[in-house]
Amino acid sequence: MSIFVIFLHLFAALQWKRFSIIGHSMGESFSALYPEMVDAVVLLDTYGFLPAQVTDMFKNMRKGINDQIQYDNKTEERKERVYTYEKAKERLKAANPSLSDQSADILLERAVREVEGAFVFTRDFRINLKNVVNNNMEQCLHMMSLVKAPVMILLAKDGLFKTFILPDGYVDMILKGWTDQKATIVDVEGDHHIHLNKPESVASIITDFLQSHSPDKTESESNNNQSSKL
Ligand SMILES: *[C@@H]1O[C@H](CO)[C@@H](O)[C@H](O)[C@H]1NC(C)=O
Ligand SMILES: *[C@@H]1O[C@H](CO)[C@@H](O)[C@H](O)[C@H]1NC(C)=O
Repeated sequence: MSIFVIFLHLFAALQWKRFSIIGHSMGESFSALYPEMVDAVVLLDTYGFLPAQVTDMFKNMRKGINDQIQYDNKTEERKERVYTYEKAKERLKAANPSLSDQSADILLERAVREVEGAFVFTRDFRINLKNVVNNNMEQCLHMMSLVKAPVMILLAKDGLFKTFILPDGYVDMILKGWTDQKATIVDVEGDHHIHLNKPESVASIITDFLQSHSPDKTESESNNNQSSKL
């Protein structure tokens, strides 16, 4: 939840009142919470919402809390682990096997920083801890209905479908939820990192979608309509 507080501080500082979102995750939750700020949403190989089964929700919460306590317990002994560039790249690719070599280099531009000739990861390790916030299917479908912006979902054939298995029937229910919301769902060849590994294969799909929902276009159209009336 605190990430949304950070987002809102950031958007206020940037004086962004409305914008479009392209992302792997959280774009849909933000769009459900603050629909008045979002023009369009593009989700890259994600279902948007990932419902938990009711019987797992509190188990997950307990695990999340336990993970956090274990992490806090280790504060004293936790040191920044240092890598050579090549080792950092190996580590990143081990955690994300679908990254091409070039994609890994691109991500490492921001994912590591140099410290005395070695490299340390810049990400907050707590991103790996089990999330304490869980939503069940009913909650996810309700949040989906709060998204007012047009949504496009790119699903990679060798992506999430194959690597992130949801309980039986869940994928169909989520996709039906999105279809009921008039979301555009596009199947693309490739893996979870297709937009990074082969951007040319999805760039025009995304650009066309965003341009057809750009507020500028609507504004100039309505200006035209106004001037034609005058
Ligand atoms: C954290 O440390 C306390 C005190 O040493 C210990 O009792 C507890 O089991 C630890 N918790 C976890 C989750 O590791
Ligand atoms: C502008 O006028 C055209 C033709 O009458 C109409 O189809 C279109 O929806 C209008 N656009 C807006 C933004 O009002």
